Amino acid sequence: MRGFLIVGNKAFTKPFNLNDIPGAGRMDILCRCTSQALFISHGIRKDVEVYLLLLGPPEPPKVVMVRGEEVKRMSPDERNVAGHIRKALGIECGGDWAEVHSGVYVARKSLELLLDELSNRYSIIYLKEDGTDIQSVNIPSDPLFVIGDHQGLTEEQEGVVEEYAIAKVKLSDISLMAEQCVTIVHYELDRRTCFFEIR
Ligand SMILES: C[S@@+](CC[C@H](N)C(=O)[O-])C[C@H]1O[C@@H](n2cnc3c(N)ncnc32)[C@H](O)[C@@H]1O
Repeated sequence: MRGFLIVGNKAFTKPFNLNDIPGAGRMDILCRCTSQALFISHGIRKDVEVYLLLLGPPEPPKVVMVRGEEVKRMSPDERNVAGHIRKALGIECGGDWAEVHSGVYVARKSLELLLDELSNRYSIIYLKEDGTDIQSVNIPSDPLFVIGDHQGLTEEQEGVVEEYAIAKVKLSDISLMAEQCVTIVHYELDRRTCFFEIR
């Protein structure tokens, strides 16, 4: 499995206007990350889970989870993904995952609680510009990559992530957009998988 956790520090936690997706605390970033994580040409990556940690007004924290293996009726465009997130935010939820519809779930979890849960199933990797070059890191078969929004993680959030992370990894020396990081991670890991299959 591959996992991606995107931290949206401003992302709204109530249903938002689909005609102003960026205005919902830069929900557009989370939608594009979801799309890049899940979709390939005419298909979906079944071995991917996406976790969107929404920390904006009015009821933070909330996490929307999308499972590639189960998700239905999602298409790669930003508005469609936003529609799924919007629906999830209309559901009453507590600390346990509530299913919104096939493959989309929502729960109330802080960054720490979420990482505590995910670290039982995944090797947590923090993506950051000053990490170790991904090309010199041996990525385990069950990685979950933590990525910040347009402003990155706060110092406090970084402290939490670093407690759980097995590595801090950079993709290049350039500060990239979050969704570009998702695409590059897939590229790097796909190449490694193909290499081993061919050999
Ligand atoms: C637009 S960047 C945030 C930039 C913000 N100024 C900061 O200092 O974090 C969004 C996220 O993408 C990831 N990221 C961006 N460039 C990266 C790189 N070259 N290597 C690894 N991760 C990167 C980081 O997780 C970052 O929080």
